[in-house]
Amino acid sequence: MCGIIGIRNEGGDVVPWLVEGLRRVEYRGYDSAGVATLVEGHIERRRAQGKIDVLEQRLAEKPLSGAIGIGHTRWATHGLPIERNAHPIATARVAVVHNGIIENFQVLKRELEALGHVFETETDTEVVTVLVTSLLEEGASPLTAVARTLGRLEGSFALVFLFADEDDLLIGARRGSPLAIGYGASTLALGSDALALASCATRVSYLAEGDIAVLAKGQVTISDAAGAQVERLVVPISKAAAGVGKGRYAHFMLKEIYEQPRVIGETLAELIEPATRTTCLPAFPFELGALTRATIIACGTSYHAACVMRYWLEKLARIPADVDVASEFRYRAPPMQEGGVAIFISQSGETADTLAALRYAKEAGQHIIAIVNQPGSSIAREADIVLSTLAGPEIGVASTKAFTTQLAVLAVLSVAIAEARGALSREHAATLLGTLLETPALIEEVLGGDEHISRVALWVERARDVLYLGRGTAFPLALEGALKLKEISYIHAEGYAAGEMKHGPIALIASDVPIVVIAPRDGVLEKTLSNVEEALARDGRVVLISDAEIIARFEGRLAYGISMPRSDPFIAPLLYAIPVQLLAYYAAVVRGTDVDQPRNLAKSVTVE
Ligand code: M6R
Repeated sequence: MCGIIGIRNEGGDVVPWLVEGLRRVEYRGYDSAGVATLVEGHIERRRAQGKIDVLEQRLAEKPLSGAIGIGHTRWATHGLPIERNAHPIATARVAVVHNGIIENFQVLKRELEALGHVFETETDTEVVTVLVTSLLEEGASPLTAVARTLGRLEGSFALVFLFADEDDLLIGARRGSPLAIGYGASTLALGSDALALASCATRVSYLAEGDIAVLAKGQVTISDAAGAQVERLVVPISKAAAGVGKGRYAHFMLKEIYEQPRVIGETLAELIEPATRTTCLPAFPFELGALTRATIIACGTSYHAACVMRYWLEKLARIPADVDVASEFRYRAPPMQEGGVAIFISQSGETADTLAALRYAKEAGQHIIAIVNQPGSSIAREADIVLSTLAGPEIGVASTKAFTTQLAVLAVLSVAIAEARGALSREHAATLLGTLLETPALIEEVLGGDEHISRVALWVERARDVLYLGRGTAFPLALEGALKLKEISYIHAEGYAAGEMKHGPIALIASDVPIVVIAPRDGVLEKTLSNVEEALARDGRVVLISDAEIIARFEGRLAYGISMPRSDPFIAPLLYAIPVQLLAYYAAVVRGTDVDQPRNLAKSVTVE
């Protein structure tokens, strides 16, 4: 939530780079945006309510230059998303951009107001600028003022500071929210992630929890939480991060849907030895076969991947498995027995609730596995072992390729745990892994039905409410289908276990409520089809996603059928994710919503 950046460029103007960097992290929030630079030693700002396009117009009307500056794109937490609350937040002495929440800001604000300080915004961030300013006025150096201010702050944050009359100094600090350092030919920079920095830097390093970085005189000095000077590993910025664009697609979401065969293939190639159809996972620092229980935790779409994994683990590995959303798990604080494994799934690797849940599970003596798309992320760093999804940068706020690559990793991990526990024979494991390797080709086939799905969407988008039903692993897909439709088209949708319909939701059936039924050919198919009949008997209008033979059974009684290739039920979640993504995408396009940046959302949820 919120994208931040700061750049010092020995070669000249930083504003174009700041704006380009902000564009690259706009997915983190787009309520308002702003930049600040030093002009003859003074802090000058341009800020605008709305997206970065609006900020660019503002800059065209009133240009800004400077060789050092900071920038911000906001997902509002405290204070309306109006220009007054837009970052950089500044006094005459210091400007700051902030991602996160200062939890004790009210206490600090009251204290500072009692001393006569006047506040101009409703943000939590302003206590930081006011505190730093008061310390500078007492004669503290910029670094001392920042360090002493940080000592007063509670909450989670990444901050970048720019100081009046300091044309060669940026200070960054990280506690709870991510912050990276970028190294370029003539630049040093700080930013929320490698994406933000890719336009002005070629190498990156990630600050650890509690680090403070000082960028001055072409050098970076980092001190850790204890104040000791430390070095952090510097790595090249990946080509994927450097070259983010929509290509020939109208939206990032559509591009990312179409990338799925490739990125699933690349993810599986790291985990399965194709010749022997054996898993080739990294060495685990604990015994997979000795695990007694699995707890799988995530948020949003990643939670739906967790729900699918529970079915796989219980069926294949015969291990007790719990699944929970991180925000509930962390405060429920359940008792956990030693010897269990806790699996955390997150595209960003920075989701605040998931990270807090991980820390709880670690304290409770669990082995920690992280499934992340960002290897340098906080969740990855704090896990005992990381299995990476190789989805590449996912820019569309609605998760698509991150979800299916998570499923790919979780499927392989389930097989590995099942084999290690002796619950799955080598032959059966080889068959399942071989089937998984077929998914990229089958997804290509599903994508071939794109045009038909866009026609179904023309009907679905007219609805006020939509129901999604599924059983077994198709139940989490029903939840995912409903989430996808809600978040990008703003149509109200609910996902249910198909067997639950008769316990209440059946009352919602009406000719203007599309019922999307996800029915792969699995052990509960006939049960699901009975639920379809129950809906049809009540004049329900059903979109059935299944294979052609099953669809044909309904002899024209369906509103629409979406035909899927025949496949092993094990890989059905990966295949059936595609039509629900496309249905939501096309419904949103017809509705004319902002598909890649839907209202109120942000990609990386670093506040709880
Ligand atoms: O980065 P994470 O996977 O931890 O994010 C979790 C959710 O915020 C995310 O999946 C969200 O639900 C997406 N917008 C769904 O499309």
